[in-house]
Amino acid sequence: MTMPVDVVVMAAGKGTRMKSRIPKVLQRLAGRPLVFHVLEQAGGLKARRVVLITGHDAMQVEAACVGVASAEGTFDLKFALQQPQLGTGHAVQQALPQLQDDGLVLVLSGDVPLTQRDTLQALLAASGGARLALLTVRLPDPAGYGRIVRAAGGQVQRIVEHKDASDAERAIDEIYSGIMAVPTRLLRRWVGQLRNDNAQQEYYLTDVVALAVAEGVPVVAHCIDDAVQVAGVNNPLQLAELERACQRRQADALMEQGVRLADPARFELRDDAARGTRGELLCAQDVEIDVGCIFTGRVELGEGVQVGAYCCIANAVIEAGAVIQPFTHIDGEKAGVQVGVGARVGPFSRLRPGAVLGRAVHVGNFVEIKNSQLADGAKANHLAYLGDASVGERVNYGAGSITANYDGVNKHRTVIEHDVHVGSNCVLVAPVTIGADGVVGAGSVVTEDAPPGVLTLGRGRQVSKTEWHRPAKPLKN
Ligand code: UD1
Ligand code: CA
Repeated sequence: MTMPVDVVVMAAGKGTRMKSRIPKVLQRLAGRPLVFHVLEQAGGLKARRVVLITGHDAMQVEAACVGVASAEGTFDLKFALQQPQLGTGHAVQQALPQLQDDGLVLVLSGDVPLTQRDTLQALLAASGGARLALLTVRLPDPAGYGRIVRAAGGQVQRIVEHKDASDAERAIDEIYSGIMAVPTRLLRRWVGQLRNDNAQQEYYLTDVVALAVAEGVPVVAHCIDDAVQVAGVNNPLQLAELERACQRRQADALMEQGVRLADPARFELRDDAARGTRGELLCAQDVEIDVGCIFTGRVELGEGVQVGAYCCIANAVIEAGAVIQPFTHIDGEKAGVQVGVGARVGPFSRLRPGAVLGRAVHVGNFVEIKNSQLADGAKANHLAYLGDASVGERVNYGAGSITANYDGVNKHRTVIEHDVHVGSNCVLVAPVTIGADGVVGAGSVVTEDAPPGVLTLGRGRQVSKTEWHRPAKPLKN
């Protein structure tokens, strides 16, 4: 198609039924605001310009959308304020001053997130720069929607809104999705002629259909089967339903690549809202993911990686052959987390930003690791904390041991050289270094560097007192 495409996204409505302080179009689907999903469709179509119509909470919506980019890069995003909101026709009117007459306008709704690119491309092609093209769908329960009224010969005559429809019209099951493609110069002319003499006293965009028919401009309905693509979000139930549909699409795409999901209905991949990074799960061959896992931001799983049930994994790279056992929590935030080849993590482990585990490292239950490197073959199997530490190869870090890395103001590093054995329940008070091949006895509080190859103890010496007598209770008479 040679005509430039401009996109108008309607997002001025209030969304009362969400019963939320957050504007409806900023409610999240797969961790991403609804309106971003819509703006990305525009980006995918290589739109020349996108005009977002805002009204309720306009400042908040605009602030959230500035700089939003699609996978294809940024696009020219403009805003148009609709105040007050007098209907969808009135909304589009606010955008028209920012649109050029040589283009084709695609009208989208900010609360309809799952329309697919090929559907929109087909709609644009149906318009062909000369016709008014409507995206429609047949619904078993069309209540509430605008109905497509056709003449005896099948030609589209007009759209009648549910509230204005007769009983016979309400029986029509083909509905208007809220999405249309139309040459800008025609839309401009028609929108100027809209009137609000209807049940809701609104300027209905849908009335342009009758105006087109009256002028002899052809109107085509592009009817699709997949209702999810035109489903809008009006309440929390619909949002949850679309979340499932969206997640199912992502799950299907992964299974298509060969990823084995124990249950595609219990799989989640979300954007990292806090960092504004896209949900992206990159899997090598033979990856297995058990039920109930949540992946957030960018996560890479190497060949043969197994992820057990109910793990939360965010912003991390898990290398080939690693096994993440159930209920493990990994969040690399900005710094990232790396789990080395053949490592075993979990169950119930917690890896925080800057945790870098080498090959065949073992991290067990209730072990927390932050900003620390564990070299190949190191093990921390039970109830431990490693923060700001460098742990050498084959180190065994005992149950209940911690690095005291924070003095209340600054953080300090702990260095544990290769082949060290740290006994149970030790406190390594940083900054401190434990020399290679050394052993730290259980229960030690280590405040000074320990030389290599020796046993270091930092605790009270055990004594057993022979002259001691157990206190006796006074005799009662
Ligand atoms: C609209 C269509 C209806 C269609 C349905 C599909 C009209 C008159 N009716 O109805 O035929 O079946 O969508 O979901 O167009 N908005 C504004 N400003 C306004 C009013 C609405 O920006 O003054 C925005 C809303 O935020 C929303 C979109 O337009 O994103 C649709 O508005 P909504 O009130 O949901 O329209 P419906 O009555 O559902
Ligand atoms: Ca609606």
